[in-house]
Amino acid sequence: MKVTVVGAGAVGATTADNIARKQIVDELVLLDIKEGVAEGKAMDLMQCAALEGFDTTIIGSTNDYTKTAKSDVVVITSGLPRKPGMTREELIGINAGIVKTVVTNILTHSPKAILVIVSNPMDTMTYLALQVAQSMGLPKKKVIGMGGALDSSRFRYYLSQAMGVSQGDLHANVIGGHGDTTMIPLTRLATWQGVPVSRMLAKEALSKIAADTMVGGATLTGLLGTSAWYAPGAATCSVVEAIIRDEKKIIPCSVALNGEYGQKDICLGVPVVLGKNGWEKIINYRLNNDEKATFEKSANAVRNMNDVLKTLNV
Ligand code: 2OP
Repeated sequence: MKVTVVGAGAVGATTADNIARKQIVDELVLLDIKEGVAEGKAMDLMQCAALEGFDTTIIGSTNDYTKTAKSDVVVITSGLPRKPGMTREELIGINAGIVKTVVTNILTHSPKAILVIVSNPMDTMTYLALQVAQSMGLPKKKVIGMGGALDSSRFRYYLSQAMGVSQGDLHANVIGGHGDTTMIPLTRLATWQGVPVSRMLAKEALSKIAADTMVGGATLTGLLGTSAWYAPGAATCSVVEAIIRDEKKIIPCSVALNGEYGQKDICLGVPVVLGKNGWEKIINYRLNNDEKATFEKSANAVRNMNDVLKTLNV
């Protein structure tokens, strides 16, 4: 199995690091436009092999897409990260052109690859990637935006901090958009080993956890001066691992909706089963009326952002 990670910045390199350490694939390609950076990070990672006990071959390349040929999964992290005070949406003007070029180049060399989109604004970049991919004959189930995996992990972190429990015992998902105001942490459906967390946390505490989760990325950007990378890299790796190992794991991801959750012609976060064919099935949670209304609001905001794509001439 072969995976390519496009963009050897902090998120791309951390994704590659996780994939190597978990020994998910035989061959891993790291590609970047900056001369020498992907080669350098690939060599640095390869020098961990004896220490970590992995034997994945990691190849770095400055923009040579022939090295990415016949990849099974391609992770796209290309583009700029956000700076403190910036929304993910403000990156659309810069990142749309980059993502379109990358998807075209990737599919020229790996026409059957499953694409995992990380670049922001993630739902709109997934929608853009889907349009390019479909024009090149790739089925929609092979285009996956990873935001929900990250947001759900942050949700479990905030829950575990408030409850003093293991994150591993929590099931809690975030659906909707991967934006500070479009994320929907599903507090009603979150459980601690099957027990609803709402039995253990007061309403106000649960609302605060949801609010903290929604701005989880912005909080880190404020602290770090740029976007986070450890959890984004680990979350992206979890999506790649579920696909490569054909795990059939349920992870919330941004995928093309065609009537599911009342939405069409949009990529938005919903729980999906991930396996060797990409996203294989959408799980239909029975949302209550409030959750349905919130989902629609989130979809409208993402749709407005998708409309901006038309004005950008990419
Ligand atoms: C985040 O939420 C980078 O969008 C990513 O940290």
